[in-house]
Amino acid sequence: MCGIVGILGNHEAAPILVDALKRLEYRGYDSAGIATVDAGKLGRRRAVGKLVNLSDLLVHNPIAGKAGIGHTRWATHGVPNIVNSHPHRAKDVAVVHNGIIENFKELRDELSQNGVVFETDTDTETVVQLCMSYLKDGLSPKYAAAATIDRLEGAYALCFLFEGEDDLLIAARKGSPLAIGHGDGEMFVGSDALALAPMTDKVTYLDEGDWAIVTRTSLEIRDASGTLANREMRTIKVDLGTSDKGGYKHYMMKEIAEQPTVLAEAITHYTDPKTGGISVPGLDIDFANVDKITMVACGTAYLACSVAKYWFEQVARIPCEVDVASEFRYREPPMSDKSVAMFVSQSGETADTLAALRYCSDKVSKTVAVVNVAESSISRESDISLPIHAGVEIGVASTKAFTCQLIALVALVISAARARGELDAKSEQVLRTELTSLPGIINQSLAQQSEIDEVTIELSKASDALFLGRGAMYPLALEGALKLKEISYIHAEGYASGELKHGPIALVDEHMPVIVLAPKDDLFDKTVSNMQEVMARGGKVLLVTDPKGAETARDGVWKTIIMPPVHNMLAPILYAIPAQLIAYYTAVRKGTDVDQPRNLAKSVTVE
Ligand code: F6R
Repeated sequence: MCGIVGILGNHEAAPILVDALKRLEYRGYDSAGIATVDAGKLGRRRAVGKLVNLSDLLVHNPIAGKAGIGHTRWATHGVPNIVNSHPHRAKDVAVVHNGIIENFKELRDELSQNGVVFETDTDTETVVQLCMSYLKDGLSPKYAAAATIDRLEGAYALCFLFEGEDDLLIAARKGSPLAIGHGDGEMFVGSDALALAPMTDKVTYLDEGDWAIVTRTSLEIRDASGTLANREMRTIKVDLGTSDKGGYKHYMMKEIAEQPTVLAEAITHYTDPKTGGISVPGLDIDFANVDKITMVACGTAYLACSVAKYWFEQVARIPCEVDVASEFRYREPPMSDKSVAMFVSQSGETADTLAALRYCSDKVSKTVAVVNVAESSISRESDISLPIHAGVEIGVASTKAFTCQLIALVALVISAARARGELDAKSEQVLRTELTSLPGIINQSLAQQSEIDEVTIELSKASDALFLGRGAMYPLALEGALKLKEISYIHAEGYASGELKHGPIALVDEHMPVIVLAPKDDLFDKTVSNMQEVMARGGKVLLVTDPKGAETARDGVWKTIIMPPVHNMLAPILYAIPAQLIAYYTAVRKGTDVDQPRNLAKSVTVE
């Protein structure tokens, strides 16, 4: 979703702004722009499409100034065109915005009645026009911005730049994250620490409702009531090396290939260095007295929760409910004060997941975040925050974050099961050994790349596909379908194998690839029966299984992909790899934009 950057620097701002916007590209965008102030004069440049278009424009039509703001826009109100691109400007003020101004119609009507003429379809233009109207009334930039912010409803991260002000940025945050970076005689504003990483590692995060007056040598933060606020400055570690493609054609492939390494890091984090046992550092929960677990997330993170539901119920014997965050709070679910609520999010900024956390925070015994971005809002607002150690994930389609989320969740399940007396020492020892070998097994599974690439010759010609799984492989079937549709644009559905004959089997014919994710577990024979039903109707089955499964059931299937054997509980982690590779190679064959699929954003900071 939209990315914001602001600079009060000692060098020309335009190239630094564009460079910072490049590091925000992963969030997804459809236009970009910058504005600068040079000797008091405000100027701006905007371009539709990729940042290279903005860079080209700046070559032919450069813009000077050491103070500036920049933006990558993911369209919400109004189509992605130049006029709707940010920064928005009304004479003496320019603004970049991430979020949605919910009362923009009301403000627009009010301003229109006072003679203001709007140029764009966006909610953000009301912010600049409102601010300009306060400037016209004689307010100084600082007070005009404050008066504007005071009128806004909805979600926003904002950064204001003013004509005549070479040393002033006003930043504000409500609902969308915003960080202030501290340099040496320079100051920065950014949607996240990654945007600011080459400029500074010293960052102050604004809290909800905060707004800040930023100059090159000072930072004044005020809370929503206008009171001076003291927010901690932190030193953030961002590994910039992880934000290049490392020789791969796409970030997504790099991130798929990184899984053995990052999973090993996550497993190490959740292993007690003294005993070698699974442990969750800082886990202050009495699981023996927990009556229910509620897990809330969106998209792929929701599917990680759906896998963990099987584990919490089967292994730790705790009732577990999983909900998509965009529905959760509107259902107004009653919560038990003996329950634990968990929020799983790669970015830690997903607006609906954050809102679900806020709904639960005073209703349950503990809130737990499982996040990749340690400094994110979901992490900071939860009682307990568990890292997943996936490293920066740039590809819009989540891959390594999914498998690393599952490692953190396995560790939680094992801790809970132990505390409830549901896991004997021998079974725990077996699981621990299997977990330790998992990165190596994942590595072996990556060796199947050419077989998977080959099956995508046919898959990429399909217009629809079905993914089937049973038990904890069912959410994985949903994840396989989600990955395929989001990056290859092939319509795909995931089904519980047993549900097939209750409707979707009507879709099956010789053109329909059916991908069956089925390790040889206790449910395998049942899944094979469902697979036979598909083949009896001419369906083309791609079976992803292990050597024993292949030995029993490969007859009549179109293609078989053989995974290394793995402990049943860990199979959803291993089988994520072929699901990701199937989507990846299909998309590459179709020539789609793998890392930034159309219409999608990496960090969904609006409802
Ligand atoms: C799919 C995908 C999305 C995210 C979802 C939640 O590949 O990446 O479905 O999983 O938008 O995002 P986070 O995990 O950042 O809350």
